[in-house]
Amino acid sequence: MRVVILFGPPGIGKGTVGNILSKKWNMPLISMGDLLRDNVKNATSAGLKAEAYMRKGELVPDDVVFEALSERIKQQDATDGILLDGFPRNINQARMLESLFGHNDKIILLNLVASMETLIERLSLRRICISCGAVYHLKNIPPKKDGICDICNGKLIQRNDDTPEVISRRLAVFHKETEPLIKYYDEKHTAIKISAEGGPDDIIRRIEGTNLWE
Ligand code: AP5
Repeated sequence: MRVVILFGPPGIGKGTVGNILSKKWNMPLISMGDLLRDNVKNATSAGLKAEAYMRKGELVPDDVVFEALSERIKQQDATDGILLDGFPRNINQARMLESLFGHNDKIILLNLVASMETLIERLSLRRICISCGAVYHLKNIPPKKDGICDICNGKLIQRNDDTPEVISRRLAVFHKETEPLIKYYDEKHTAIKISAEGGPDDIIRRIEGTNLWE
């Protein structure tokens, strides 16, 4: 089993890079943010617990996210390898993840880094499809028709946690609770630093240039 964690602050492009790698490597992308947003949309018990935290940019309690992840990885497509976006976000979640896998399974953290200017620009111009969740950027990855999803013709909206106030809270939470994981993975597993500046293809080229599996 191969587990690749796409790691980095809000807006770095974890979902964007993850979607490309998922197709290239034939590994499912499991996005904790998307899983939680689906739960909120469907008013499940996990969604009802998660909603208030997400709206404020705080982390959802560990047991809620772990339950959502454990259910997802039971699915057939997740037996050989998975790409994780947004999990783990603290040391407790990293330990929870380890409890799901054996000693022979390889866990790699891809530490995506970019300037604060890049992050703010990516987040403030992000739009998502209300129906299928596809992600666009008004300047860098625009839809063909204004406000309409290329894939399903759904309406494009701004995420309700992409306001300046919530973005700064999410960044603060990342620095305090999530960033310490780099040291944890560096010491216990493998952590590889990748520049996330430039377009998605540049980033993919850098990731594939690291000989990840050797
Ligand atoms: P989540 O949805 O995971 O949000 P996040 O980590 O803040 O990350 P984002 O989705 O904002 O950014 P991204 O890095 O995926 O960037 P994207 O590819 O979209 O989590 C939301 C909330 O859920 C959390 O705040 C928390 O409450 C809760 N949660 C989630 N996981 C949790 C956990 N484990 N524990 C507890 N709570 C949890 O790209 C951003 C924009 O830039 C897009 O518009 C894109 O088109 C554009 N773009 C991307 N890459 C490039 C590029 N290379 N060049 C140009 N434009 C680009």
